[in-house]
Amino acid sequence: GTDKSLRNLTKYKEIISTLTQKRSWLPSQPLHEYQGFWCYPTFLEGIMSAQEHFIAQPTDIFTCTHPKCGTTWLKSLCFAVLTRRNFSDSSSNPLLTESPHEIVPWIDFLASSGQTRDPELPLLATHIPYTSLPESIVESNCKIIYTCRDPKDVFISLWQFAGIVSGSRAEDFPLEEAYQQFCEGVHPYGPYWDHILGYWKAHLQFPDGVLFIKYEDLKNDTFSYVKRMAEFMGCPFSMEEESQGLVQKIVDLCSFESLSNLEVNKSKKRSSATGPFKLQYDAFFRKGKIGDWENYLTVDMAAQLDQITEQKLSGTGLSF
Ligand code: A3P
Repeated sequence: GTDKSLRNLTKYKEIISTLTQKRSWLPSQPLHEYQGFWCYPTFLEGIMSAQEHFIAQPTDIFTCTHPKCGTTWLKSLCFAVLTRRNFSDSSSNPLLTESPHEIVPWIDFLASSGQTRDPELPLLATHIPYTSLPESIVESNCKIIYTCRDPKDVFISLWQFAGIVSGSRAEDFPLEEAYQQFCEGVHPYGPYWDHILGYWKAHLQFPDGVLFIKYEDLKNDTFSYVKRMAEFMGCPFSMEEESQGLVQKIVDLCSFESLSNLEVNKSKKRSSATGPFKLQYDAFFRKGKIGDWENYLTVDMAAQLDQITEQKLSGTGLSF
């Protein structure tokens, strides 16, 4: 009941107040260090609540990502694949009229957003690092689809996003300062490399349980990955569906051009599904390109970031 959730909230706030803090990407909320990653305090309340109360069903499928690695896209693709038989008349697809974040809820914010999960839809999302996931997700062997992305593009996307979200000007949080923090891993859900490695190791250990995809690969060959996702989720495309061009229809529906031009995704409406910050729907669509970092980073900055990545991922079999 309400009393219990209020007590819990007070308990989480107390724990959070004891955590190490650092200056944040957003002026209003310092980042706090919790279980080896950095996060905004209001997000941590939701994460702690998910860790304590969230019960996964064994049939649940999770899209897991570090912010700005293609979460919105992945949510759309997984939803479109899973529900393709419900919306044979494609004009009725909810993706045409609702934000992907409204359709696929965050377990990080279930407590704070007032959103409830749709019992008919076994699809949920989270930014939580693998080792901090609510226990029942791992214990129930839930399927996980993870996407990651070139750290240089993640950094630029994150920096731009922070500007949009806080309504601040670029000089309020200069690129150089943001870059330094990103390299040190001090950003929401960071360090980024630890986030990747947590899911990468899980993928190596449970290849049938964790599908690991790079944004760049997904972008270059969306068609093949959509088929692979369908197989992984236990609903492979039939010969008939393939010959009807259904795979391509999903690729097209979820493309950056298609989604970003829909009225709903251009709208400045604030969504409670995106947690305490109530982000605008249009904040999730910027350029959707590979390599936009070239327009922002100096050669030295790019080289240094590449070097950190090489060092952190060395010997893991993973590279960018
Ligand atoms: P850019 O800022 O580089 O443009 P997330 O959804 O995890 O917040 O990630 C947002 C990034 O994914 C943004 O990157 C955004 O433009 C891009 N994006 C959103 N929808 C996309 C889509 N359908 N296809 C490819 N990229 C997409």
